[in-house]
Amino acid sequence: MKKQVLVSGGAGYIGSHVTVELIEAGYDVIVADNMSNCDLTCFEGVKKITGRTDLPFIKMDFCDKAAVDQLFTDYKIDAVIHFAAFKAVGESVAEPLKYYSNNLISFMNVLDAARTHGGCNVLFSSSATVYGEAEVLPVTEQTPRLPSTSPYGNTKQMCEDILRDSVKAYEGIHGIALRYFNPIGAHPSALIGELPRGVPNNLVPFITQTAIGKRECLSIFGKDYPTEDGTCLRDYIDIVDLAKAHVAAVSRMVNGKMEKEYEIFNVGTGRPVSVYELVTKFEKVNNLKLNYKFVDRRPGDVMAIWADTKLANEKLGWKAERTVEETLAAAWAWEKHLAENR
Ligand code: UD1
Repeated sequence: MKKQVLVSGGAGYIGSHVTVELIEAGYDVIVADNMSNCDLTCFEGVKKITGRTDLPFIKMDFCDKAAVDQLFTDYKIDAVIHFAAFKAVGESVAEPLKYYSNNLISFMNVLDAARTHGGCNVLFSSSATVYGEAEVLPVTEQTPRLPSTSPYGNTKQMCEDILRDSVKAYEGIHGIALRYFNPIGAHPSALIGELPRGVPNNLVPFITQTAIGKRECLSIFGKDYPTEDGTCLRDYIDIVDLAKAHVAAVSRMVNGKMEKEYEIFNVGTGRPVSVYELVTKFEKVNNLKLNYKFVDRRPGDVMAIWADTKLANEKLGWKAERTVEETLAAAWAWEKHLAENR
């Protein structure tokens, strides 16, 4: 019997790529999403890529406790990957209650349903934001978390703790938190990718939208950081590589391979890339000229962060494979696909 995985927030950017990789690895997937921050573009893309026209889709809000419970009654769920959350840092500062209530309640509803339905494997999508401005780089999973500068970051830390405590208290719940670095790019088919609403906050969608002419000019935030070229360093992880880390983590859980009931893994490449380097690589690989300018630092940005990926490499048997160039070519192919099809 195929193992069944519930993907909450499965119609979004990361969720859709993970769904594809899970299906290709032989899992049955149930996609659930409240569509608060996406449309059906990526879900339709997933069906095309996988040929699974019958892929179950449930429109529901994970803050609706009864609906979450019903889902666990209707399906035998071997693992749940929880993406359903708000993710805009700036908005979370302006509307903290929106973030705390949505991000925490939805996750607690998942855990409570897992608990009352005899246990479940739970994968939480966390973020490298929990490390803040780390003193020693690269960061390992042992690097202390620092107090967050935003409610969004706080919800990631709190959900990690809620999972850790639930795993300890309730029999049958096992948990993995994956701490993502900077997910970028798109599926090589160009049928799914990032679809930000309004003006993008993140770097790569801003780059691709500038290249296509939707935005006039990319602002590079800060040129005076104490790095080689003066711009920030990040660990940009290809979205398909990131999705494959989820398959490895789910497989570890459902096959009883976990060494502890709660585990944490960094998901990155282990290679720092500067903002300026990323911009010039994008121009080179896609053979175009980008309109950009240097402006002041963005408040709240850390200068540099990248992952030590040894633990994920060893324990998950997973490694980032795609080059930044391949990833940036895929990001551009997706933006062009959108321009031609929307
Ligand atoms: C941000 C969030 C992080 C979240 C992640 C999700 C902040 C401070 N951090 O990470 O908590 O988990 O997104 O993907 O918001 N940049 C520009 N111009 C732009 C946009 C970005 O120069 O128009 C620079 C930023 O200064 C940064 C780098 O590009 O140095 C990456 O920025 P971004 O894509 O927003 O990701 P993070 O800030 O690393």
